[in-house]
Amino acid sequence: SLEQTIRPQLLETYIGQDQVKKNLSIYIEAAKNRQETLDHVLLYGPPGLGKTTLAAVIANEMGVNLRTTAGPAIERAGDLAAILTALEPGDVLFIDEIHRLPRAIEEVLYPAMEDFCLDIVIGTGPSARSVRLDLPPFTLVGATTRAGAISAPLRDRFGVLSRLEYYNIEQLQEIVNRSADIFNTEIDDSGAAEIARRSRGTPRIANRLLRRVRDYAQVKGNGDITLPIAQASLELLQVDQLGLDHIDHKLLRGIIERFRGGPVGLDTIAASIGEESSTIEDVYEPYLLQIGFLQRTPRGRIATHLVYEHFNLEVPE
Ligand code: ADE
Repeated sequence: SLEQTIRPQLLETYIGQDQVKKNLSIYIEAAKNRQETLDHVLLYGPPGLGKTTLAAVIANEMGVNLRTTAGPAIERAGDLAAILTALEPGDVLFIDEIHRLPRAIEEVLYPAMEDFCLDIVIGTGPSARSVRLDLPPFTLVGATTRAGAISAPLRDRFGVLSRLEYYNIEQLQEIVNRSADIFNTEIDDSGAAEIARRSRGTPRIANRLLRRVRDYAQVKGNGDITLPIAQASLELLQVDQLGLDHIDHKLLRGIIERFRGGPVGLDTIAASIGEESSTIEDVYEPYLLQIGFLQRTPRGRIATHLVYEHFNLEVPE
């Protein structure tokens, strides 16, 4: 499907994250030459930067199957055992949101990662006994938005730790051009740059905005994406010059208007604007911190002078 093909399949066609790619390409080549399984990889960083895509690229480059699950989907040890025992030798098991694995399940994962075996307790009470099951060797690729939320024993069992960074405008423009090409949509440089500038450093957002601009171009224009088409459709989407959306605005204006610019605690601001604390913390806040609009202090979040300037408000004393 189209959704499959806008995701790159090879490190060579994966745009950006140059440091991560350079390192991974060496580890992949070395593992293949030794005919060994790639060591376990932990990918961390803000959402939408390509962690899932990279896991699929790793599996493809290694020439193995990709099996995908997520931390919250694994509720019992048996769920994990079923997944692990179904793997073929060398497969990549991708666990998204690995910081949300229940603690008891994490402990099942340790011997699986370290020695490719499972210790299962059969039965209950006095007749309970433990059996050890051998597993095929596999590569665990874990993904998390918060490296700090992972327990130290789990983190220590990954041989490769890779941090994904926000993309620059040029890289996002390349991604937009590549996706437009796959969509068979004409886009000029200024149109692609406009989408890139408003994508908050995030390919997932760039591709989403591209789809909406493409719809607009098709209905309101001749289908081609130009600067005026991109600007008009992004204005209609309420995505501002910096790519901040309705929720970013609610968050920033809330801190200014209800809490005098802060400091205000995360839960307090979340409750006052009716959003989940975890959504603010994982999805909205990282980019606002990155561009210097928010500061985190021990007493809570502060809106910086850049926010006042962005909204054309007078900066308080
Ligand atoms: N689509 C989403 N992320 C991408 C990336 N990093 N490179 C190429 N295409 C992408």
